[in-house]
Amino acid sequence: MTDLELLNLAGEARKRAYAPYSHFAVGAALLCADGSVYTGCNIENASFTPTVCAERTAFFKAVYDGKREFTAIAVVGGKEGDPDGTAFPCGVCRQVMAEFCTEAFRVITPEGSYSFGEILPHAFGGI
Ligand code: THU
Repeated sequence: MTDLELLNLAGEARKRAYAPYSHFAVGAALLCADGSVYTGCNIENASFTPTVCAERTAFFKAVYDGKREFTAIAVVGGKEGDPDGTAFPCGVCRQVMAEFCTEAFRVITPEGSYSFGEILPHAFGGI
């Protein structure tokens, strides 16, 4: 699975975004250590707080299926109707990544890729 293939899967997932409030559509494609891929989109809510990001949708689908080891996630976002652009994972999603990912986990954007250790140094790992 190349970075470009994973970005393309994130782009397909982005088409499923439910974003009637922000009109900002995000898609994610999460590559598991076993080679399987889980996709996700953002799903918004009229009450705003229950909104879930594309990244967490992908992680929670995967964890529910028993996956615990992850290699990379591709994320694309942008205003509805705009081409796939860069949307960096929010802080809440980075904390979810911290639960399951090592510092070597890669976050892939259309602009390039980053290690998880780069985008969340000194992550909180529990008490
Ligand atoms: N969003 C994501 O799904 N992932 C990100 O990386 C950043 C933000 C969503 C949440 C909300 O539905 C919309 O984008 C605007 O913040």
